[in-house]
Amino acid sequence: MRFKDNFLWGGSIAAHQCEGAYEEGQKGLGIMDLVTVGAYGKPREIHKQLSGSAHYPSHHGIDFYHRYKEDIALLAEMGFKALRLSIDWSRIYPKGEENLPNQEGILFYQKVVDELKRYGIEPIVTLYHFEMPVHLVSKYGSWANRKVIDYYLTFCRTMFEALKGNVRYWVTFNEMNHIDPQTEASDIFTYMIAGLKYSELENKKQTLATIGYNMTLASCLAVKLGHAIDPQTQIGCVFGIEPVYPIDCNPINVMNAFKQMDRDFYQIDAMCNGQFPSYKIQEYKSQGIKIAVSEEDRQAFRDGTIDFIGMNYYASSVAEYEGSEEGKSALFGGLQNPYLEASKWGWTIDPVGLRYLLNYTYRKYGIPIIVTENGLGAVDQLTENRKIHDEYRMDYLKKHIAQLKKAVEMDQVDCFGYLTWAPIDLVSATTGQMSKRYGFIYVDLNDHGEGSMDRIKKDSFEWFKRVIETNGENL
Ligand code: BG6
Repeated sequence: MRFKDNFLWGGSIAAHQCEGAYEEGQKGLGIMDLVTVGAYGKPREIHKQLSGSAHYPSHHGIDFYHRYKEDIALLAEMGFKALRLSIDWSRIYPKGEENLPNQEGILFYQKVVDELKRYGIEPIVTLYHFEMPVHLVSKYGSWANRKVIDYYLTFCRTMFEALKGNVRYWVTFNEMNHIDPQTEASDIFTYMIAGLKYSELENKKQTLATIGYNMTLASCLAVKLGHAIDPQTQIGCVFGIEPVYPIDCNPINVMNAFKQMDRDFYQIDAMCNGQFPSYKIQEYKSQGIKIAVSEEDRQAFRDGTIDFIGMNYYASSVAEYEGSEEGKSALFGGLQNPYLEASKWGWTIDPVGLRYLLNYTYRKYGIPIIVTENGLGAVDQLTENRKIHDEYRMDYLKKHIAQLKKAVEMDQVDCFGYLTWAPIDLVSATTGQMSKRYGFIYVDLNDHGEGSMDRIKKDSFEWFKRVIETNGENL
């Protein structure tokens, strides 16, 4: 098996990180509109309401709202086959609970999708990528309340109908898996996913478990709804997965690693196997957490299995073990791997981990996989003659694509696309910085929101164009 002729080479972006125009088109306030800029080691502040003096990067993004034509033209020049983008829920239902959607919001996304199709770029649309109307959090308490599932489904229906016939690939959620009662969470991750700060949660374990359950259920219901509206669609869910390695071959540590990896998989189990896993319910019970699975829910899990798995891959980690508290912490808990280098933001770089993860996941479920995010956040230097020599980025991507090739060609994993995060520089989700850059296209903007916003091609632009042209043969 080689990369298929119609392999989806491309990239992923998210509305709150690129659109800006946060007050235009009758958009409501979304959860990320209340988060300030931070830095590595300096957490973003999460506000309850807007404060005049603070800098909120989502308010300007990279102005994709006004510049999408220019940006899509650049992606088309690179030969992109697919672009994954998200719909900002608060553009469609500003408060989340209106009876009628905001037509201006719908029109914006219809225009973006039309523009992509004009160039033959396949839109892959994420319905929830950290973009919830603030009102649903303050009035209903976010995903802990099942009422929010109904509002989410109304939003999904609106978009499935509005883009019917033009969008083949849908994603119900981005990275709902970073919420789990097993681990201490950081404020920013629970906030991005559910608009709630971990430190302020009252009954932490119960709330996180309920949110995880409700979001899983919501995804299944959305899949069923989407298929009913357009049976031609392929509907998946995206997970941010870190393979977790054991520190050594002590069986206790191997078991620990297995358990910690499960954290990212229990929702995939639910969505692929058609039932919420009983081992998770048992784990909850043993911690005094109550999750009631009704007969109606059981039916929803059976009816709403996903068509593909989206995999965001950046790093791997090493499982915590007895006495391991001295180690340096990895991205989602666990320890840094001493065999691997890390990015300037502490994310370990592990290309082989991608092959391992693709194999692990494919053998577990046997359904198609798409790599929906992979990339290196790095500081780029703009030279005097406006060039960016980003060999480090090409090096990172080359090594990962080489492992992806092995997974497809040697291991026979059915992977139908590779999307980089992010093809154009945009606001970092965890830090809010612009200086944590991922793109093939540089955006002239600094962490304070200053700059011309000019788009400049980096060296990696021509390189990735060649990768696509040769269907991954010429790295
Ligand atoms: C993923 C998210 O977890 O990581 C993206 O889906 C995010 O939204 C990406 O941007 C990279 O993280 P960061 O913090 O470097 O932007």
